[in-house]
Amino acid sequence: MKEVKVGLLGATGAVGQRYINMLSHHPFLRLEILMGGKSAGKKYGAAVKWLFSESIPEETAKKEVKKAVPESAKGCDVVFSALPSEVARQIEPTFARAGFAIVSEASAHRADSDVPLMIPEINPDHLKLLESQRAKRGWKRGIVTTPNCTVTGLALVLKPIIDSFPLKKAIVTTMQALSGAGYPGVSSLLIVDNVLPYIPNEEEKVSKEAKKILGKFNGNRIDPHKIQLGISCNRVAVIDGHMETLYCEFEETVDPKKIISALESFQGIPQKLKLPTAPEQPIIVRREQDRPQPRLDRLAGTVPGMSVTVGRVRNGIDDKSIQLTLLSHNTVRGAAGTAILTAELMATKGFLK
Ligand SMILES: NC(=O)c1ccc[n+]([C@@H]2O[C@H](COP(=O)([O-])OP(=O)(O)OC[C@H]3O[C@@H](n4cnc5c(N)ncnc54)[C@H](OP(=O)(O)O)[C@@H]3O)[C@@H](O)[C@H]2O)c1
Repeated sequence: MKEVKVGLLGATGAVGQRYINMLSHHPFLRLEILMGGKSAGKKYGAAVKWLFSESIPEETAKKEVKKAVPESAKGCDVVFSALPSEVARQIEPTFARAGFAIVSEASAHRADSDVPLMIPEINPDHLKLLESQRAKRGWKRGIVTTPNCTVTGLALVLKPIIDSFPLKKAIVTTMQALSGAGYPGVSSLLIVDNVLPYIPNEEEKVSKEAKKILGKFNGNRIDPHKIQLGISCNRVAVIDGHMETLYCEFEETVDPKKIISALESFQGIPQKLKLPTAPEQPIIVRREQDRPQPRLDRLAGTVPGMSVTVGRVRNGIDDKSIQLTLLSHNTVRGAAGTAILTAELMATKGFLK
């Protein structure tokens, strides 16, 4: 694969740092340009409040953070955006207009009818939306988005279930990590010794985004999946890793063993293409009664943090229902990792030309 030059908007944030961590040894995505807001003009090492135990890659620490304008990214093929949504809404179209491919973590454009919302194992065909986006907006490459960090693990687990079993409805309760709120995030006085039972706008986003991702590409639009979803989102005092309990009701009797087998055997195009950030198994099922746990399982998989771990798969109130617990790393699978996997798929399928 030919080298692809990469720019990064929001390089100092919780997600931006995860990009730097994940791209530091990438075989063909080469991180060239870092961009930000308050940190623009400073050396990255001096501007960032680095959150990882490994040091900042030396080359990266020495780079100057540039202003978040298209001229800064000259020479890049793709620009990852880890900007706050309200900032992304203004800035991302200026980069798209200037000819860049934008792969964005922000929610600003996720719901736009001509913008793909990607989890490459689930909906690789949704990239074809770019054709109508480019025609309509006159952009050379365009904007692609990746989902809210809570949706990613949930949608990956729902996909093999809805493909093989007659699902009627699903009820989800989340226990979301602190890093999901960015840096510095939630005040310690609010979260220590506590659980916050409300995350603004989160439940609406999870429902809308899951339906779009699981929906069907239909020429120039996505027809959302009609799944009935009930969602409760909570913030808990865990650093990384969103845990979710999922309750599913089916039209007919379901055997937990068959659900486990569908989850474990699930693979997508990224696995077939052996993309560098694709884990061999997108979903790992644990048999122990007390797994998954954030501390033990958030970095699971052949690409650490890119596999969702599922456990406690069992019947619910009757044999037409299933309960399980799932865990996914919110800044890896739920953010930078899925965006990097999307860029790998775009590069492989010719969408970055
Ligand atoms: N955290 C997660 O688990 C997660 C998961 C999925 C998606 N997301 C989404 O990803 C995005 C980034 O999240 P985060 O958690 O990394 O947030 P964060 O820690 O608050 O970081 C925000 C970044 O945006 C930059 N920024 C802010 N205002 C700017 C401006 N006007 N111009 C240019 N740069 C600006 C900041 O740079 P300066 O310091 O230089 O101002 C910083 O690097 C958000 O849209 C979030 O919803 C987050």
